Amino acid sequence: MSKMHATITAAGHYAPEKLLTNADLEKMVDTTDEWIRTRTGIVERHILEGGALSDMAVPAITRMLKNSGIGPEEIDLIIVATISPDMFFPSTACIIQEKIGAKKAWGFDLSAACSGFLYALVVGAQFVENGSYRKVVVVGGDVMSRIADYTDRNNCILFGDAAAAVLLEPTEDTSLGILDHVLYADGSGGKVLYMKGGGSLNPPTHETVDKGMHYLYQDGKAVFKVAVIGMAEASAEIMKRNGLTGKDVDWLVPHQANLRIIDACAERMELEKSKVMVNIDRYGNTTNATIPMCLSEWWQAGKLRKGQTIVLASFGAGFTWGAVLVKWNAENVAQN
Ligand code: COA
Repeated sequence: MSKMHATITAAGHYAPEKLLTNADLEKMVDTTDEWIRTRTGIVERHILEGGALSDMAVPAITRMLKNSGIGPEEIDLIIVATISPDMFFPSTACIIQEKIGAKKAWGFDLSAACSGFLYALVVGAQFVENGSYRKVVVVGGDVMSRIADYTDRNNCILFGDAAAAVLLEPTEDTSLGILDHVLYADGSGGKVLYMKGGGSLNPPTHETVDKGMHYLYQDGKAVFKVAVIGMAEASAEIMKRNGLTGKDVDWLVPHQANLRIIDACAERMELEKSKVMVNIDRYGNTTNATIPMCLSEWWQAGKLRKGQTIVLASFGAGFTWGAVLVKWNAENVAQN
């Protein structure tokens, strides 16, 4: 058995230029900047105007490769966590593989909604830990603006578009890298957060379009409660079984769905706010991109440093949720 650990050695992210601010949304639905800020913490989101998920994933991976110093031809495997792939098939992983010239890589898409990045990170880590591959790219990204209903004030204010990627490589130092994970699913949650149209159950017809079935539906209140409990309990579980308290954790990297969910989770973990990565104000909920976006931004700003202990936590449709414990092992790239 290999004693390798998988470790994140680089990250990169991309958000499209166009902004959708709360002021813009005030003109589209019956809402106010004040309501959105106080209920969600969101101020603006980025929106992809043309193109598809792969058009955000490619610049994110290109930046990640630049930060790592490796070339695309060295990549062994590409895993794309998304609920808004370019199309059902071929997989966005294959589209990306061709676009970046990762000639020897194979890859696939993975669907677990807002927990997709954590699921994909854990799956990718298995291949590195068992010695199969040495360079695995895990991408999280979504074009949520394509499935948000901009006549529904309950939901359209929450989401934005972005993609981010990390590189997994092996290390023989088993005190570093991805140390532990807890992942869960509960299919009974499918009743309160879903997109019914477009799949084999409800293939696209005039009727499915007229009924708005190709939009995301969410009962926000029902999701809110379980999201706080799920993220906090998964984080507490992983900390407890690794003998850690809030004092030992340098950063909580939570899925960015609502600032109030993040604050409640941090409070339950007895973590100071200064130890919690938050960028929901600038991006909204970018679904699969939220956690790798935080890692990439904080790392490139020099705030996430080698040797720090971080807990990644997510909750999403399915329901799916979990936490991953990481000892950050990427060389510092920041100049400051
Ligand atoms: N602007 C103004 N008012 C709005 C509004 C908006 N954009 N959206 C909803 N409201 C209204 C509601 O209609 C309701 O009015 P009523 O009391 O007259 O019926 C009132 O605000 C309160 O709505 P409520 O649903 O109780 O708000 P909330 O505090 O629960 O916040 C969410 C709503 C969606 C922001 C919140 O529930 C949430 O973030 N849920 C979880 C999202 C999430 O984690 N998703 C996971 C996907 S990963």
